[in-house]
Amino acid sequence: MPAAADSPKPAKKRRNPNPWIKRFKSPIHNNGLFAAKTIPAGTQVIEYVGEKITKKESYLRAVVRVDQAQRSGAAAVFIFELNSKHDVDGSVRWNPARMINHSCQPNCETRIIKGHIWIVALREIEPGEELSYDYGYDIEHWEEHPCRCGHPDCVGYIVRHDQRKKLKHLLKELKKKSEGKSGEK
Ligand SMILES: C[S@@+](CC[C@H](N)C(=O)[O-])C[C@H]1O[C@@H](n2cnc3c(N)ncnc32)[C@H](O)[C@@H]1O
Ligand SMILES: [Zn+2]
Repeated sequence: MPAAADSPKPAKKRRNPNPWIKRFKSPIHNNGLFAAKTIPAGTQVIEYVGEKITKKESYLRAVVRVDQAQRSGAAAVFIFELNSKHDVDGSVRWNPARMINHSCQPNCETRIIKGHIWIVALREIEPGEELSYDYGYDIEHWEEHPCRCGHPDCVGYIVRHDQRKKLKHLLKELKKKSEGKSGEK
């Protein structure tokens, strides 16, 4: 029997049902997410979804991934801190937010809202602008994460905002030392 004209049709499978974002090649690193249209300040742009894992599992996965990444040059870090007991491993195909790169002058930030991780616009974002947030890495491993965000204030390494002054100072000291050494010859 033919279906009635107003009977519900199966929803078409769409790969990107999020109206705010588009995925493209990024000048920062490999792929990135870009604004598909003007995004007003304060918009919850996209949820960072993935597998909820314990801290212990998170640590084990991070060790393996960093090792793999150091050998292959691939992106390594998709694990996100959710709370004191759990993290979210976002390295799954159904998490487009994993493509968002770091910037030292980001246009988004991450917020935990009712137990979910959201990428929220810090200001109005123009169509075509790449979305970014501060990865918040600790200064301890600065050398392992060179930054290519291209912002005039970029310190050259992915280090969280409140530690960048300290890193700038450290880099200055290291430069002075190496210039001193080459002057001795
Ligand atoms: C969560 S992924 C981001 C998506 C990544 N662009 C991709 O295509 O898979 C995180 C990785 O992207 C790279 N990345 C992100 N922001 C970067 C930046 N500002 N400078 C250099 N590499 C960056 C680093 O390799 C980092 O480990
Ligand atoms: Zn930077």
